[in-house]
Parts: sequence; C-alpha cells; structure tokens
Amino acid sequence: MTTTGTPPLPKAELHLHIEGTLEPETVFELARRHDVALPYESVEDLRAAYDFTDLQSFLNVYYANMVVLRTRDDFAELASAYLRRCPEQGVRHVEMFFDPQAHTSRGVPIEHVIGGLADAIDAHTDSVSAGLILCFLRDQPAADAEATLRAAEPHLDRIVGVGLDSAEVGHPPSKFTTVFDRARELGLKPVAHAGEEGPAEYVREALDELGVLRVDHGIRAIEDDDLVARLRRDRTPLTVCPLSNVRLGCVPGIGLHPLPEMLAAELNVSVHSDDPAYFGGYVDTNYTAVRDGLDLTPDQLRTLAENSFESAFIDVAARDSFIEEVRAWDGGRPG
Ligand code: HPA
Ligand code: ZN
Repeated sequence: MTTTGTPPLPKAELHLHIEGTLEPETVFELARRHDVALPYESVEDLRAAYDFTDLQSFLNVYYANMVVLRTRDDFAELASAYLRRCPEQGVRHVEMFFDPQAHTSRGVPIEHVIGGLADAIDAHTDSVSAGLILCFLRDQPAADAEATLRAAEPHLDRIVGVGLDSAEVGHPPSKFTTVFDRARELGLKPVAHAGEEGPAEYVREALDELGVLRVDHGIRAIEDDDLVARLRRDRTPLTVCPLSNVRLGCVPGIGLHPLPEMLAAELNVSVHSDDPAYFGGYVDTNYTAVRDGLDLTPDQLRTLAENSFESAFIDVAARDSFIEEVRAWDGGRPG
C-alpha cells in the first residue's frame, strides 16, 4: 500500500482540547521561561507519568501541567504549534475546545486565553480554518460556569460554541441547564461530553436538557437500543476518540472499540484525537489506529471523514467542497 507521497484523507478535527496538545517538551520550555518549578526531573520523567488508569488520573496531570501557560503569547504559541501540524494530518478545519476555568482559577485573565488562541487562528487562516469552543468544567459548581460565560461575553465574536468537559460521573448534564440556555440565547452552538465514562442516560440528558448539536465521545450510547435509534434518526454527531478511550480504560483495547458497531448502526460518527500530547497521537494516528486495529476499509474511513465535515459548524458550500475532496481521496494515507 502506498503510504508516502500521496495526499492524506481530508478531515475536520472536532474533538480536540487545545490544552491537550501541550507536549512534554513545551511544558519544560515554558516552565524555564516563567521560572516555574516542576515536580519532574526531565521530559522522560513527565512522560512516565502518562500511565493513566481512568479519566480522573489523566485530568490530574492535564490540569497540573497547565500551570506553565501564563501569558497571551503562551496560548498563541500553543495553538500555533497545533495549527502548524494540521496540513500534514489532512486537517482542513478544526473546532478546538479550551478550558477557561483551568486558567482563570490561577489568575490568568480570560482575555489572555481567548486573545492568544485567536491570534494563532488568525495567523493560520491560509492553511486551516479554525473555531473555538469554550468548555465548562462539569466538576465545578454551575454558578462558576455561569460566571465564566459572563466573563466571555465581550469576546463572543471569537467563539463558536460551548462545551462541557472534565470529570463526568456524578456531574450529569442537567447540572448545567441554566448556563446552556443562556449560551444558546447568545447564539452559541451547544455540545457536551457525554457517555465517555458516564452512562447512556447522560447522552439522553445532554440532548434533552442542554439541546446539544453534537455529543463528544458518546460511546456508551451503544448500550441503549432506543437511544441508538434516536441518534441514527436525527443523525446526531458523535465525536469519537479511539486512542483516548483505550488510554483511559473506557474500552479494553483498540480491537474491542465499539466504532465498527456504531458505523454498522449508521450513526453519524467521526474520529478525533481528544488530548493528542497525552494519548499517543494526533487525529492521523487515530485514523491509522482504527484502520489497522479494527480493519476499517477505505470506504469506512471516507464515511468517518465525510461525517466530520457534515458535523462541523461550517457553511454548506464549504462542507460540500470538503466532502467532494473526501470522495476523491485515493484510499492510501488516512492521516
Ligand atoms: N474527557 C473529559 N474532559 C476532558 C477530556 C476528556 O477526555 N480531555 C480534556 N478534558
Ligand atoms: Zn474530550
């Protein structure tokens, strides 16, 4: 099979936490710049801590590493480093999550966070289109989410949507109905993580109580036949992150991932990377992992990529033109 010299499968990246692209080398570089003491001797030491057992064990390291992100330039450099990688992965459009509460709680002003990310997006418009999705931390009080949305209001021209992330179990979507109502009133597109570690019922709640247009992960929806029928009927997008699911123990191995079952059920699934600096690879690696680990055919990979553009918050003309490009893909290099 040809793997080099051919163009990668075009795709949209819809489930990427920009803070999850913070590579270990960058953690050390920024720590030196800001004179921050790290509890690790070396990059190798830090990488050795990426031995996760569940979502919380990952979140502990993910939030701890963020202490090195301090200035508007830090956020711009973080997002620029990611956006520079997009063309080689076939990523033509990205909607990136960011976690303002993880920064404002440390004294970083929200305008430095949004401003820095927006600077990077503006510097890369020639090679990739990009939008920002502001996530609320579901393990924090709903009132904090409401205050965060108020603080973001002066910057809404830079934000496409709102999301819900962090520790899922015990923090159902219904905890956040008020803030999602307000976000929808403001014209923001609602999405939420649901059914990653939490039950299928959280997916139903995200749809019914938050009015989400996409479900992030949603893999546990497959346990509920009525929900599967509803998701199929409505073509609700599910942004699935296979390497993340394996690394956080949500599925026992790549060969046992429910993605083939979800495709067979004709769900609107697409493949993404979640936190690529932590889970072993960017979206191209996720595509290769499902091709090799689940024996997906070129047509199934095309379906995943078409779904990614169908589910993106882009206009119809852009969507149709990206989908044409997917159909013209030669079947060689998924990423
Ligand atoms: N799940 C929930 N919250 C997150 C994740 C995730 O995989 N990554 C970053 N925040
Ligand atoms: Zn995620």
